[in-house]
Amino acid sequence: MQANSDIRALARTIPPFAPGDTISDVAERFLGGDLQQILSVPVVDEAGYVLGTISRYQLNDIFMTKFGRDLYGSRPVAQFMSQKCLRVEVSAPVAEAAQHVTTTMRIPLSEDFVVCDGGRYVGVGAVLGLLAAMETQVRKGADQLSQAYRQLQSSQAQLVQSEKMASLGQMVAGVAHEINTPLGYVKNNVEVMREFGEQLRELVQSCSGLVDALLDPHGSDVVVAKKLAEIEDLRSMVDPELLFSDMQTLFGDTNFGLEQISALVLGLKDFSRLDQSFTDNVSLNDCVDSALLIARNAIKNKVEVIRQLGDVPAISCMPSQINQVLLNLVTNAAQAIEGTGKILIRTWADVERVYVSVQDNGKGISAENLKKIFDPFFTTKPVGEGTGLGLSICWKIIEQHGGVIRVASEPGRGTRFVIVLPRQTQHVEMAAVAAIAS
Ligand SMILES: Nc1ncnc2c1ncn2[C@@H]1O[C@H](COP(=O)(O)OP(=O)(O)O)[C@@H](O)[C@H]1O
Ligand SMILES: [Mg+2]
Repeated sequence: MQANSDIRALARTIPPFAPGDTISDVAERFLGGDLQQILSVPVVDEAGYVLGTISRYQLNDIFMTKFGRDLYGSRPVAQFMSQKCLRVEVSAPVAEAAQHVTTTMRIPLSEDFVVCDGGRYVGVGAVLGLLAAMETQVRKGADQLSQAYRQLQSSQAQLVQSEKMASLGQMVAGVAHEINTPLGYVKNNVEVMREFGEQLRELVQSCSGLVDALLDPHGSDVVVAKKLAEIEDLRSMVDPELLFSDMQTLFGDTNFGLEQISALVLGLKDFSRLDQSFTDNVSLNDCVDSALLIARNAIKNKVEVIRQLGDVPAISCMPSQINQVLLNLVTNAAQAIEGTGKILIRTWADVERVYVSVQDNGKGISAENLKKIFDPFFTTKPVGEGTGLGLSICWKIIEQHGGVIRVASEPGRGTRFVIVLPRQTQHVEMAAVAAIAS
């Protein structure tokens, strides 16, 4: 295992002392020879279990005392060793071992740590070596983390994009449908008017035939009478007065349809304005209407929308972003309504702020879910229907406008979102807002 081999790699397998070794023996081997780099050496029993350690500093202390060598030299090391030594199990992860060692080591550092395997001696490791291994691991972890963070950022950007594409798709479908209806009757009217034109042409032709007959110096009364009879016949079938009044109506209807289409196109242009910058003098009431125009197809036949738009001052904001927030709220509200229901949209203002509320009498949100609805990716909708990003994007947009978005909901009764925006927006972090928008 990785953790196992990490600690083992730090262990030097130097020969330990036996508990019965005398201080003189120990000093001879420890202070001379090849153990110069080692701070402490373990004392191990015959079965291989670690009993304690003796450090270079302890030995120095013993020999520095007056007559130390004569007094203690023949005593066994077991009497002087420190049982509370630094021990690390060979199977311990580096981080855990480093934490244990750094919290229990004495300062100034006077010992190495003993690597054990179930209490049996494996080797001796340097504390600084362990800390260096730990640092390497942390650095590797940080690298992995930042790579994971970059991946997450890019996949989040992709998802934000897909939420945008989803609402764009929804918008396009809605608008296409909206345009189709007036377009249908405009086409129909034009067809009917073409037929009327045909009838009129026949009538005009007959009339000019009569005029020709009357003007013809050689013309006979018989021909004139025939032409007259023809016109009479036509007039009984096509009453010109009626025809003209029908045509007037058709022209009126057609014009109305065309106006509707151009209003939609204008609305669409307003809605998805590409200039992602703050614009002064934006009325939230216009934003509400703009969002409703786009959402109309998704909500009609199902939801009754009640607009109570107050006298709100124009503010400085990014209208396309506010439109997006409102469309999200209205779409969520419509999706929460099973069967038929109502959405109440209100706007009002006080001295410092303007408010928009979107309230529905749909299925509501449980207290448990209410805590999570602004979290990115939280959705209760089936795959393909919800991305769970709508509200988190709304939150960010409103936050970047210096406002807040609040929610209250009661399961079974409905939900109310309120957006609060300052009347005076500080144009801070415009770049950040643009970043969300792009
Ligand atoms: N008006 C509402 N009524 C009930 N539930 C709602 C309403 N608005 C949002 N929610 C809940 O919040 C969740 C997150 O919404 P949102 O972030 O827009 O993502 P999505 O609509 O893609 O699921 C929804 O799945 C839904 O459970
Ligand atoms: Mg949504």
